[in-house]
Amino acid sequence: MKQKYPKKPPLSGLTALAVATILGSCTGAYAQSSGPDTNVAQRGHYLAIAADCAACHTAPGSTQPFAGGYGIASPLGSIYSTNITPSKEHGIGNYTEKEFAHALREGIRRDGAHLYPAMPYTSYTKLTDDDVHALYVYFMSAVKPVESTPQKTALPFPYNIRASMGIWNALFLDDTRFKPDPSKSAEINRGQYLSYALAHCDTCHTPRNAMMAEKGGSPLAGASLSSWYAPNITSDPVSGIGGWSSEDLFRYLKTGDVPGKAQAGGPMAEAIEHSFQSLDDADIRAMVAYIKQVPAISDNKDTAPRESYGKASGREAVYRALPANRLSRGEYLFSGECAACHRPTGQGSPDGYYPQLFHNTAVGAPIADNLITTILMGVRREVNGHTTYMPGFGPGSYVDTLSDQDIADISNYVEQNFGNPNVKVSPDDVKLIRSGGPKPLIAQLGAFTVPAMIVAVVLLTLAIFFFIRLSRKTKA
Ligand code: HEC
Ligand code: HEC
Ligand code: HEC
Repeated sequence: MKQKYPKKPPLSGLTALAVATILGSCTGAYAQSSGPDTNVAQRGHYLAIAADCAACHTAPGSTQPFAGGYGIASPLGSIYSTNITPSKEHGIGNYTEKEFAHALREGIRRDGAHLYPAMPYTSYTKLTDDDVHALYVYFMSAVKPVESTPQKTALPFPYNIRASMGIWNALFLDDTRFKPDPSKSAEINRGQYLSYALAHCDTCHTPRNAMMAEKGGSPLAGASLSSWYAPNITSDPVSGIGGWSSEDLFRYLKTGDVPGKAQAGGPMAEAIEHSFQSLDDADIRAMVAYIKQVPAISDNKDTAPRESYGKASGREAVYRALPANRLSRGEYLFSGECAACHRPTGQGSPDGYYPQLFHNTAVGAPIADNLITTILMGVRREVNGHTTYMPGFGPGSYVDTLSDQDIADISNYVEQNFGNPNVKVSPDDVKLIRSGGPKPLIAQLGAFTVPAMIVAVVLLTLAIFFFIRLSRKTKA
């Protein structure tokens, strides 16, 4: 009989989806709690640092760790972290270990409501039962209860319908535990576990689709995070960090500063400050070993590595000789606002505290987001008790004196002289970054998203039935 339809209809993905939808989430077996055990609690403490729970669950400037109230800017509005201290009234004191695991790995709260993926359960879902147990023991036995409820999340309709996250999870949550790859070394496996299940590099560095889910096909290929941009950190020598040595990457994760390459600002600085700097060197080396062998993903628009652009400027003497009105506006503003620290030559200070602007990834990158955001928000990072600080020139700063046009002029001057001359910055680019950066489709669609998601799920269900009937017919 002549086969009219392909022999194997593309069932696998759809079936998996149907199964996931029908079964919902299943949490597996849990290690029995052996009561507050100091060793286990200590391990839980270390894991909480590696997973950076405190960064999101502590309000800025607060002295009460894990009491919640940090507003995570999302394109849909601010999502506030909750109190995860063992307070029975305001925190997670009533959570059983099973409920705790459910929240961490499936994004479902004790009362059954879905969490927003601002809580990185899509990463923590990879955590082993042992590690979830250690975290639970730590939170229940070693964290001080805080008796207060932080500000509540109130997203606009339709995003306030938490049940819609159930559909999102069915489509995008890969609810499976980490499985070591026997073809890789123990160090690389450890590095992958740390990088994905705990440090969740992917939540920031992996691009997302229109529904804000990570694109499975391009891990760590670079992604926009509101105003900041988390660059491509795959092993590609041009688009990624293939040209970085293991020592460079180790130093970056431990300190956030690799002279002649990159400095960490924004969310990367926070991750280093609160988490990576405190991890064991062996664990950082394992992460480096893993990251170094992540398959290269290149963007053929990139022609040279971002840290390779630019050179020192010879214009210092010109500043002195020419009156201000003979300099371009960008150069004039640069000499007034930036050159005191980064020097007119762009070489920075000899001790490297003020970094050089050429051979600097923020300036050599193919998009100017991190340059513009650095000018607006500055840099702040505390490592080993030392604070690195650049003031921001944006709202809320004592030097909030620059217009969008001014920042575009400075950026263009910096790009042309120290960075990637193909990059042009307009005042509209600056305005977009000020307003929180480019928005994914899910936020632009606004009120249409949830109906659109429901329609998509209904269509998929119909498609599954269609294929199942089809496969039965062709088999018969
Ligand atoms: C990137 C930010 C972020 C990190 C990191 C993070 N969380 Fe969360 N977490 C949140 C947010 C935001 C919420 C509330 C989400 C919501 O309201 O939908 C949340 C909610 C929770 C809840 C549900 C609590 C409740 O109110 O019932 C638990 C439990 C939790 N987190 C535990 C943890 C633990 C343990 C870690 C570290 C292993 C962690 N979180 C790391 C952002 C984060
Ligand atoms: C909370 C978001 C976030 C997380 C988590 C995160 N990063 Fe980043 N990362 C960023 C941002 C944003 C930048 C750009 C910082 C800048 O230029 O100031 C960055 C920069 C980097 C850079 C420098 C790239 C360059 O060209 O300058 C490296 C390397 C890097 N991250 C590695 C990692 C690794 C490895 C992990 C996990 C262990 C990780 N990051 C986790 C957001 C994040
Ligand atoms: C008061 C001193 C000071 C001034 C003024 C200053 N900077 Fe900085 N800048 C710093 C410091 C400190 C860092 C962070 C160094 C580090 O992270 O190790 C930095 C970092 C940077 C970076 C790298 C950021 C990243 O995330 O990769 C860029 C780009 C930059 N500055 C550009 C500028 C521009 C443009 C201006 C003028 C609008 C300016 N800076 C003004 C001190 C300054």
